[in-house]
Amino acid sequence: MGDRLPSGDAMTSAFPVLAQQVNGHALAYLDNGATTQMPVQVMEAMQRFDTHSRANIHRGVHTLSQRATDAYEAARARLLAYVGGSTQHELAFTSGTTESLNLVAQGLSLPAMPSGGGEGALLPAWIKPGDEIVTTGLEHHANLVPWQLAARRTGARLRVLLPDLEGRVTAQALAALLSPRTRVFAITACANGSGERPPYEELLAMARQAGALTVLDAAQAVSHEVPVLSALACDFMAFSGHKMYGPMGIGALAGRREALELLAPLRMGGDMVEWVSETDAGFAAVPQRLEGGTPNVCGAVGLAAAADFIDGVGRAAISAHVEALREHAVAGLSALPGVRVLARATRRTAIASFVAEDVHPHDIGTLLDERGVAVRTGWHCAQPLLERLCQSPTTRASFALYNTHAEVERLVQGVAAALDMLR
Ligand code: ALA
Repeated sequence: MGDRLPSGDAMTSAFPVLAQQVNGHALAYLDNGATTQMPVQVMEAMQRFDTHSRANIHRGVHTLSQRATDAYEAARARLLAYVGGSTQHELAFTSGTTESLNLVAQGLSLPAMPSGGGEGALLPAWIKPGDEIVTTGLEHHANLVPWQLAARRTGARLRVLLPDLEGRVTAQALAALLSPRTRVFAITACANGSGERPPYEELLAMARQAGALTVLDAAQAVSHEVPVLSALACDFMAFSGHKMYGPMGIGALAGRREALELLAPLRMGGDMVEWVSETDAGFAAVPQRLEGGTPNVCGAVGLAAAADFIDGVGRAAISAHVEALREHAVAGLSALPGVRVLARATRRTAIASFVAEDVHPHDIGTLLDERGVAVRTGWHCAQPLLERLCQSPTTRASFALYNTHAEVERLVQGVAAALDMLR
């Protein structure tokens, strides 16, 4: 197996954080499902903004404010193009996937306001008592807990599309859950706990056909297998910057404009209104209506630079590379005695999550760290999925474009050595 992307010096000069030793070993950073590293190109774009154009947006006639506003709006357009939005779509910046999904779940549970506003003009909440919300057993807590609360707040029923014991969800099982009462269907593009890549294209289309609004958590897909919004039956798509080589604290909710207009905003205040009287307000159109308060302008600039970085390298090359690393890891780990890799058969994913008989993942993770190999251990904020698949936390290696097959070998050898020692 050969690496398809530039590695070695080229990668470590693009990602200086990788050029360090940890515990006396070259760092092998395999925790990209949690957070990817940022290339210099992204850091420089942010530094340029902060040293040249930093000001508040949409609020000033002075030059810096106008520059900052232009940079922010250009970042919005860049990100919407990155995820394949069309003229029917808009993109609101958020702090990340969790805020985006909370905005949708809460926003569909509360009465929303029409553009222009006015007293007594609230629109009824999308989710009503007796409605049904469908999510899946693959989800990160951020695409489950908000729906649990939405159901309790509105009197709707939450139904969960459970995976089989291999961690797969099927169209047949979804068909049995959908009904005219289904108002929302929410699914991940890749399960962060197991690495399963569900057939979300088909499932979203089925849910829309049933009359539901559809939500895609693209957090684990946005750095390599980027979903194309306008090609999907998808009303809302959430993602984070720090999982796509961008900064922390910035992400987005992209979606169909008409669907975004159904959302009650999470934050009322400045920059989300057109006019305000002592007793009433007229609300701005989406996406501004969903972005009350001063946004993370520098983060948005960095996120747009991250999209440029990814497209500069090439999405297809990145996907092929991380998928090959995952397959290599699955083969190597599965060959170790008593090791079970979850969602082994899935494809188009960058996550290898595994359990080892009689050994706790935290012990494996600690021993790997002593060899300079960084992985994540625990429930990965996906406890229902892991309870169902293996009744335990896991060790998870997750890959990015800068990882190499040599690092996968170090992972496999490190796990083998840890198992020898711990058993
Ligand atoms: N959601 C992140 C993960 O899967 C933090 O690790």
